[in-house]
Amino acid sequence: MATDRLVPHHIAVVMDGNGRWANRRFLPRVAGHKQGVDALHECVKACAERGVKVLTVFAFSSENWERPADEVSGLMALLAKALARKVAQLSINGIQIHFIGERDSLSDSLKRGFEQAENATAHNLKLIFNICFNYGGRWDIAQAASKLIAKGLSITPASLNSEMSLGHVPDPDLVIRTGGEQRLSNFLLWQAAYSELYFSDKLWPDFDAAALDEAIDEFNRRERRFGKTSEQIQSKTAV
Ligand code: IPE
Ligand code: IPE
Ligand code: MG
Repeated sequence: MATDRLVPHHIAVVMDGNGRWANRRFLPRVAGHKQGVDALHECVKACAERGVKVLTVFAFSSENWERPADEVSGLMALLAKALARKVAQLSINGIQIHFIGERDSLSDSLKRGFEQAENATAHNLKLIFNICFNYGGRWDIAQAASKLIAKGLSITPASLNSEMSLGHVPDPDLVIRTGGEQRLSNFLLWQAAYSELYFSDKLWPDFDAAALDEAIDEFNRRERRFGKTSEQIQSKTAV
């Protein structure tokens, strides 16, 4: 791990490839998701160790309800188990947990689990860990606009931003997608406007700390221009 590299403040991850990981081993898809939970735990630890301040992961999309019923119920059960088993340890490591997404259609016990995890970790400051569950970027923009309309406020980029579900953190610097696909699949449509995008062919259960370091190294090779010219950016970094 290079020591002089810039560590992204906020990393967001589309954790894709669990199903294929399981298929290759002739296992049920849910076995891939189970392995994916372990990979996620390692990723949270690795991010905290490297000084990343915010980690946002895509765990279940608004569209994932369309999957076979046994896979959906398997994912819900895995989440409930992870809530019961992992929250205490994450809290000891200084992780502040937030669940991002539409909650009304989730079971009462999951909703309670989300609230308990958020309350139990609210005081932690090492790393903000946002878990996008039943989340979609389009839902997020629409719910933010609805809130503004209900308050009688006008819709501007700044007012929308304040009502978005990730209003408590700055936009992601780096968005990683594993599993080889090069698309956003309705993840952070608003917030990824100027994020660096990094696509890894590794399946999510295989994405380890070394793979995270490769992504951070690649991030360091990018020049973020935010609409300016390369010369403007270079002259600013030269002073
Ligand atoms: C991502 O892995 C996890 C979720 C969408 C819940 P997939 O389950 O999409 O894995 P692949 O893409 O089928 O391999
Ligand atoms: C995106 O992966 C959602 C999550 C990782 C939770 P998908 O596997 O659902 O995306 P598509 O269907 O390939 O676009
Ligand atoms: Mg997938």
